[in-house]
Amino acid sequence: MIDIVKLSKGFGTRTLWSDVTVTVNPGELLALVGPSGSGKSTLLNCIGLLDRPSAGQILHAGKDMTQFGRREIRHFRRDVLGYLFQNYALIENATVAANLEVATKPQRSARGKAGMAIAEALERVGLAGREKEMIHHLSGGEQQRVALARIMVKKPAVVLADEPTGALDHANATTVIDILREMSDAGCAVVIATHDDRVRDRCDAAFAVHENALVTQAPTKPEGAPAEQVSAS
Ligand SMILES: Nc1ncnc2c1ncn2[C@@H]1O[C@H](COP(=O)(O)OP(=O)(O)OP(=O)(O)O)[C@@H](O)[C@H]1O
Ligand SMILES: [Mg+2]
Repeated sequence: MIDIVKLSKGFGTRTLWSDVTVTVNPGELLALVGPSGSGKSTLLNCIGLLDRPSAGQILHAGKDMTQFGRREIRHFRRDVLGYLFQNYALIENATVAANLEVATKPQRSARGKAGMAIAEALERVGLAGREKEMIHHLSGGEQQRVALARIMVKKPAVVLADEPTGALDHANATTVIDILREMSDAGCAVVIATHDDRVRDRCDAAFAVHENALVTQAPTKPEGAPAEQVSAS
């Protein structure tokens, strides 16, 4: 589905990660872990076409997306991608319902595949009946769950989630990871950047940025077990 091939990214003279090679298949739930500042969000941003890598390819449907122009980038984001941002990226001065309705528009035009109904998605994230509330009146954790509901309504083929449980208590974090697991079981390719071991342990595979390379970790890695390198630089 998405083949990341020898991808590198740096800022100035600093290399964040290099020669990252990994495939994300439909139905797979992958965790991206690693210390703060190691470049997890930057890697998600490159896959989501919000940032450009310094070198390498990101192949989707046989095309190298790093070469996409503005129009192709817009189509990929609209028709294929669901992005759960670290800062939620909701429309603050609008209602919960208005934020979710935005996600129903692409299906009418290009996709034709109905996602979940707004009321049902809100119920799943524990926000039943909150349609008319303004986003800026919601707590951070509630906004995070609205952002997830928006993705459930859109039903994209690829989901990138940046710290999706960052603002949540244990019960709500469990709900969020359950939903992401369901989406992947339904055929979606999901990549989650996370510091949360409970999230990592629910994923099919976990990768960490370590010394500028992407290394694989067993989801239930025993204490002190060495990481195995998967992408030689
Ligand atoms: N546009 C930019 N110019 C220069 N440096 C940048 C830019 N964007 C990101 N960086 C740097 O790249 C590094 C990686 O940032 P990134 O946000 O990807 O880390 P992260 O692994 O997601 O961290 P966290 O766990 O704290 O979210 C940081 O040191 C950041 O300062
Ligand atoms: Mg980050």
